[in-house]
Amino acid sequence: MIANVVFVCFSCLCPLRYRLDPVLISRLSQGYKAVGTRGLKFNEHRTALRTVPAHHGHVPCHDPSRVLALSRGRLIRLTVLIGLSEGTTPIYILREGSTRNRGQDAQRSNIMAAKIVSETIRTTLGPLGMDKMLVSGTGDIVITSDGATIMKEFDIQHPAAKMLVEVAKSQDNEVGDGTTTAVILAGELLSKAQELMDQDVHPTVIIDGYKKALAEALRISDSLAITVDPTDIKTLRQIASTSMGTKAVATSKDFLATLATSAVTQVMDNSSRKIKADIERIKVLKKHGEGIEQTELVQGIVLDKEIAHPGMPKRVEKARIALLNAKLEIEKTEFDAKITIESPDQMKTFLDEEETMMRQMVERIAESKANVVLSEKGIDDIVLHFFAKRGIVAVKNLSSGDMEKLGRATGGKIVATLKDLSAESLGEAKLVEEVKIGDDKLLYVRECKDPKAVTIVIRGGSEHVIEEAERSLHDGLCVVRNVVEDGKIVAGGGSIEAELAKHLRDFAVKVGGREQLGVQCFAEAVESIPMALAQNAGLDPIDIMIELRMRHQDSVNKWFGVSVHNGKVTDMLKERVVEPLRVKQQAIKSSTEVACMILRIDDVVSSKGGREPAGGPPGGGMPPGMGMM
Ligand SMILES: Nc1ncnc2c1ncn2[C@@H]1O[C@H](COP(=O)(O)OP(=O)(O)OP(=O)(O)O)[C@@H](O)[C@H]1O
Ligand SMILES: [Mg+2]
Repeated sequence: MIANVVFVCFSCLCPLRYRLDPVLISRLSQGYKAVGTRGLKFNEHRTALRTVPAHHGHVPCHDPSRVLALSRGRLIRLTVLIGLSEGTTPIYILREGSTRNRGQDAQRSNIMAAKIVSETIRTTLGPLGMDKMLVSGTGDIVITSDGATIMKEFDIQHPAAKMLVEVAKSQDNEVGDGTTTAVILAGELLSKAQELMDQDVHPTVIIDGYKKALAEALRISDSLAITVDPTDIKTLRQIASTSMGTKAVATSKDFLATLATSAVTQVMDNSSRKIKADIERIKVLKKHGEGIEQTELVQGIVLDKEIAHPGMPKRVEKARIALLNAKLEIEKTEFDAKITIESPDQMKTFLDEEETMMRQMVERIAESKANVVLSEKGIDDIVLHFFAKRGIVAVKNLSSGDMEKLGRATGGKIVATLKDLSAESLGEAKLVEEVKIGDDKLLYVRECKDPKAVTIVIRGGSEHVIEEAERSLHDGLCVVRNVVEDGKIVAGGGSIEAELAKHLRDFAVKVGGREQLGVQCFAEAVESIPMALAQNAGLDPIDIMIELRMRHQDSVNKWFGVSVHNGKVTDMLKERVVEPLRVKQQAIKSSTEVACMILRIDDVVSSKGGREPAGGPPGGGMPPGMGMM
């Protein structure tokens, strides 16, 4: 890319060049022309003169990209990434304004960015972790300690740091919990890799070491995992409780854990050998008011809608439900039409005709024996009036998501035209009723045909509490689902990580060669979890780690971890701090993958037009703002 090309910084065009590398100067005198940009101001010359000796002191200046990188970061703006060939025609390789950051600079910059993000999120780990308050551009406030939410809300622009957002997202999608753990691990793996790279260990060697360590960690964790019965409600509750105990709603963790466990066990399908629990079937509805303890699990579907007409019954037993995706209105024609009415009689006939059409719609529905109509579209007031007269309950403008859930729950078919409506297409529920909650009304479709349909109605005194309760409940539902499906758990509190670290250190010796350095670093990185738990609990991490390592020498103590509430190293299994194996394995997998991916990058080329040069400002710096985290 740069044959016959010399890249120079502006300083090379000023008297400063005499201090530069002789190779570069000789190139310039051989007819290569340095292409600079806008003229330097006198002050800039002076700044350049002051700063250059410092940075050129340890940088070979015949490395053009290095010169380019340094001069951009420290001196003055350099516009060019072009060179001149033997002749005089400039070869433009990248568009003006594009930036390129290569080699160790790129690696350092990426690692630094990932590390900063990971350190930021580290303080939120565990039951005594802190929360973050995130204020969006529009002033919306989110207060949370949920890793996935924090990462989503950060307006990150550094490409490597963005990759950590992806880790959190994928961890959340796959297993629902352990997002903070995954991000911390990724940051720590990169940080340890940097230490090795500083000792001249090549990234590919580190990557190989990490991959071997990952495979071994997965194998060991599999062998350490405890098998539980998917119907062991007590253990499932403890799993949910551990997960929710790290969130702001920790005071209600046992209550919410019971709800989450009942919800998942109700939707789980154990008809085949492999148990499946689709938590999408669990509808979660937030309703402001009362407190968390008033959160309820409802058998059926709850809709944030009210009955459309005051004359309709508020309660229908043995409901036969028509699910409509059709407007119950007189539709306007798509083309402009003009009707000339010349007498009051004609007017009356016209209106009567409209009324007859709407009456027919109601009759059509009544013929199907439906006593409840739930529609995704609008319903005309006259139609509502006729429904009310016939004692049919109607609710309009439901969301398509709710319609789908209702279809599944009641066994009804969503029909797009009234012609398709028949007794067979109706759904069934034992009771449909409107319930007043605070100032609002909710529609409860209770005990549907499919008993697997459940809704959790979250209550809470403030918007922030409800939002955090929803996030915690999501984690709780996911971890119970994981255990129901896999039947494998491990103890938490950093115990599994400490045990893995011990085994990995032994494994490193077996691996031998330079790769063992990677495996050792992996072991140290994994230990960052108990370390962070101890730090966040205000304990001395060194003392805790010494004791933890000592305890884990004996395999009887394999579940010893950091008991954050009493500040000691104790058996976490006895304390019933338990987590799904799937969460731990996924966190290790996704963090290793992203760390290896970032380590493999040695060139960051950003086109002009981005908000900031990718890889941060050259020279290993961070984009503005990142360093402030
Ligand atoms: N009572 C406890 N004592 C010690 N450690 C605990 C306790 N409860 C949970 N932990 C530990 O806290 C860690 C989980 O913390 P947290 O829930 O904040 O992060 P995460 O699960 O990694 O991410 P997130 O929940 O944000 O997706 C796990 O290592 C878990 O073992
Ligand atoms: Mg968690």
